[in-house]
Amino acid sequence: MSQLSTSSDHHKIAMIRAQMPAVTREVYLNTGTNGPLSRRTVDAITAYACDELEHGRIGPASERASAVLAESRALIAELLGCSLDEIALTHNTTEGMNIALLGLDWQPGDELVTANSEHEGGLNPAALLKARYGVNVIYTDIGLCDCDPVVSLERALTPRTRAVVLSHVSWTTGAVLPMRELSDMAHQVGAVVVCDAAQAAGMVPARVHDLGVDAYALSGQKWLCGPDGIGALYVRKDMQSKIQNTFSGYYTIKNRVAHADAEIVFGDDAMRYQYAFHYAPSLFGFNEGLKWIRDEVGWEWAHRRTRELAQCAYEELGKIPGLRLYMPRDRIGGLVHFSVDDIPPADLTAGLSAQNIVIRHVPEPLLNRVATGFFNIEEDIAALVRGIRSLQTV
Ligand SMILES: Cc1ncc(COP(=O)(O)O)c(C=O)c1O
Repeated sequence: MSQLSTSSDHHKIAMIRAQMPAVTREVYLNTGTNGPLSRRTVDAITAYACDELEHGRIGPASERASAVLAESRALIAELLGCSLDEIALTHNTTEGMNIALLGLDWQPGDELVTANSEHEGGLNPAALLKARYGVNVIYTDIGLCDCDPVVSLERALTPRTRAVVLSHVSWTTGAVLPMRELSDMAHQVGAVVVCDAAQAAGMVPARVHDLGVDAYALSGQKWLCGPDGIGALYVRKDMQSKIQNTFSGYYTIKNRVAHADAEIVFGDDAMRYQYAFHYAPSLFGFNEGLKWIRDEVGWEWAHRRTRELAQCAYEELGKIPGLRLYMPRDRIGGLVHFSVDDIPPADLTAGLSAQNIVIRHVPEPLLNRVATGFFNIEEDIAALVRGIRSLQTV
């Protein structure tokens, strides 16, 4: 197997793996479900939780939490190449998708275009719109390997299309969608593009203004290697007057008084969507983890390394007789999907797990999935290949 890393990479990879002990105890190839935590993240979670234990939950610590909240929003804004006032913190991707989709002004017969292979994080809010408002949900084959996403979207759009709901990176096929082209096309019929970035944020470059999307919902626990319960939602500045509030809470209201006679005035930035507090220890962990990746790993380096490892996995898996790669090589980021003749995907996942190699299988299309993170090494891929070959001979 060709070595991807230079000697300076070796140094960095050793530093990263010392920070992330889980990735040295198992062959960790499932960041698409949950990324590994770094020591820095867990130290920050623990330090804050201990501070609360020893000194209570009111006072200077809670003031620090407000500062960290603003810092985390700024870190996400930097990652996505947008301004601070376009970012709200949420609890996960699904919440961001719901906030964006339920905030539009739906009429019976309006159309929403999505794809069969989308995640429930986008499909379930779409189904809710259908049940509540009589929205017509159009399911396309976008994201599948034999589909040209641009052609499929063009066919599905009509003058009644109000929203297009697609993932930047598909969890079930690994396809990285050409969001700029798709967004431009959707905008031509006046549709709003609500993009699920659960798999994209931290995996591939995601400069939202360049992607042309109107809303971009992400999670912390996957490719950002953060704790559960924190995510973010980007809403482009000029869309904030069009995506109305579904929730109303602490940060959403400008005048901050909601007594009987007060007229409600929503904030004039994306904080209007940030309606609830976060568990402060998690917020501190999320924030530290983002700073660690930005400052010590480097987003550009992390994106490149993720892609190179996925390409390496693609090559090496492709050499295994009886293994079928699903997506063309030039359409993937950090997820490689495949099937192995005569081994059902669930059995392959279980057989590898017994060898301490963690991957997963996904439904529709039923495939195995390998996720390569910036912390992985070439030896992880070699171990995966050996593991699959050993299961073929059983
Ligand atoms: C594409 C995609 N969207 C949404 C989700 C759900 O993410 P969350 O639990 O953060 O809402 C996932 C999780 O696997 C996903 O892969």
